[in-house]
Amino acid sequence: MLPKILVVDDDRHTRILLDRLLAKTAVVSLATDGAEARQLFAADDFNLVLMDQRLPSDNGIDLLREFRERRPHLVGILMTGFADVRDAVAAVREGLFDYLTKPFEDLEALEAVIGKALELDRAYREIHGLRARLASESGAPAMIGQSPAMEHVLGQISQVAGLDTTVLLEGESGTGKDLAARMIHAMSTRATKLFLEVNCGGLPETLLESLLFGYEKGAFTGASQATAGYFEKAHDGNLFLDEIADMSPKLQSSLLRVLQDHSFTRIGSTQPRAADFRLICATNRPLLAEVKAGRFREDLYYRIAVVSIRMPPLREREGDIVPLATHFLDHYSTKFGKTCGPLTPAALQALEGCRWEGNVRQLQHCIERAVALHVNGPIDMSHLFPTGECCASPLPANDPAPVTPGYQDARADFEREYFRRVLDAAGGNVSEAARLSGIPRQNLYVRMKRWGIVTDK
Ligand SMILES: Nc1ncnc2c1ncn2[C@@H]1O[C@H](COP(=O)(O)OP(=O)(O)O)[C@@H](O)[C@H]1O
Ligand SMILES: [Mg+2]
Repeated sequence: MLPKILVVDDDRHTRILLDRLLAKTAVVSLATDGAEARQLFAADDFNLVLMDQRLPSDNGIDLLREFRERRPHLVGILMTGFADVRDAVAAVREGLFDYLTKPFEDLEALEAVIGKALELDRAYREIHGLRARLASESGAPAMIGQSPAMEHVLGQISQVAGLDTTVLLEGESGTGKDLAARMIHAMSTRATKLFLEVNCGGLPETLLESLLFGYEKGAFTGASQATAGYFEKAHDGNLFLDEIADMSPKLQSSLLRVLQDHSFTRIGSTQPRAADFRLICATNRPLLAEVKAGRFREDLYYRIAVVSIRMPPLREREGDIVPLATHFLDHYSTKFGKTCGPLTPAALQALEGCRWEGNVRQLQHCIERAVALHVNGPIDMSHLFPTGECCASPLPANDPAPVTPGYQDARADFEREYFRRVLDAAGGNVSEAARLSGIPRQNLYVRMKRWGIVTDK
C-alpha cells in the first residue's frame, strides 16, 4: 500500500511540484489553507504531513502542533522560506521531524528527507502494530526488527516455536538471545507451562548439578530436605540453558544422558523420573568451534543444535536502529513518566553511525540514560552522547572485559555475581543459599551487604 502524504501550501507551484514529485510513490492530498488541511487530516490517516509555515490565516507550526496533539506519533515536515528558518529550527527542537527551505533547489535531497520521514513513520507503526499483535496473541515480548537479517530470524523462530525440537541460539552478547528464547516459549504449545532459565556460566559444577537434577535429603552435606531440580520443575514446559558452552565436561555427559533417555535421577536417588521438557540453549561463543577445540562434546552438540538460530549483531541489521531506538524511547518515557522525544534527525543519524559492540543492549542503555537524565522534549545528540563520544567508547557489554582486571576486582566481580546467583537459585532464602554455597549464614549476610544484594526473605 502506498503511503499517504498531506501537502499543505497556499502556493500553487509548490503544490504542483510536490504532487508531481511524490505521485509515483505516494497518494498525495493537497490543501491550500488551514481549514482544508484540518478537514482532510480528520478524515484520513496520513503517514506524513508537509506543512507550509506561512498560510493565509494560520501558522504552519501551530497547525502541526495541533495535529500532533491528536496523533502524537505524527511525522511532519515544515516547509519554510529562508527568512523564517530560525522559527523552523526552534520547531524542530520542539519535536517536529524536520524542515525544508523553499524554494526547493535540490530535488534529490528533498526526496531523501521525505524518504527518511516515511521510514520513521513505518517504524512507529511497526512498533505499535507489533506490540498490539503480540500482546493480544501470545503475551510474547516484542522483538523489533525489519532488516532482512531479522526477518529471517523471526521467520525461523515462528517456524520452530511450535515444534517440540531443541533450539540453539547463537550470537554475541546483547543480540536478543534471551528475548528469542522467551518468544519461542510464548509461541510454543507449552506456553501455559513454566519457562525456566539457568545460566551455566559462573556456577560451580556441583551447584549447577544440584540445581538441574535436584537432590534427596542427605544426598550431600547440607541437603537437609529433598528438593526438585529444574529438569523436574520444567516438566511440560521449556528449559532455557544459557551460556551452555561453559558447562563442565562431566555435566555435559549427564545432560546428554538425560536427553537420550528422557529421564533422570535426583542426586542421592536411584529412582528414574521422566524428563519432558523442551530444551532451548544459548551461547555467545560459536559452539562448533568449542567442539573443534575439544571443549564441548560433539554428540551433545548435535543433540542440542537440531535447529540453530544465529542472532545477528546490530551492525548487520541495516534499518533496525531507528525502530529499536524509537521503541526504547517510548518504553522509557512511559516508564519514567516523561514525555521525551522524538529523536531529532541528527540524533537518529548519529545512532545509525555507531558500531554498537554491545548490540541491542548497548543501544537500550544509551536511550535509557538519555531519557533518565532528560526532562522533556526532543532528544538530541548531546543527550545521547554527553561526552561527544559515540562508537569510540562502547558501554561495557556483558562480554568478558578486553583488558584483564586486577585480581581483587576480578574476585569482587565473581563474588558478587556468584552470590546473586546462589540467592536466585535459593529463591531468595538466605539459609537455603548458605546451605547451597556451604558458607555460614552470618558470613553470607556480611557479603550480601558488601555487594548491595537485597532479598525480601
Ligand atoms: N529485537 C529486539 N527488540 C527489542 N528489544 C530487544 C531486541 N533484542 C534485544 N532486545 C533487548 O535488549 C536487551 C538484551 O537482549 P538479551 O535477549 O538479554 O540479549 P542476549 O541474551 O543475547 O545477551 C534486552 O533488554 C532485550 O529485551
Ligand atoms: Mg542473555
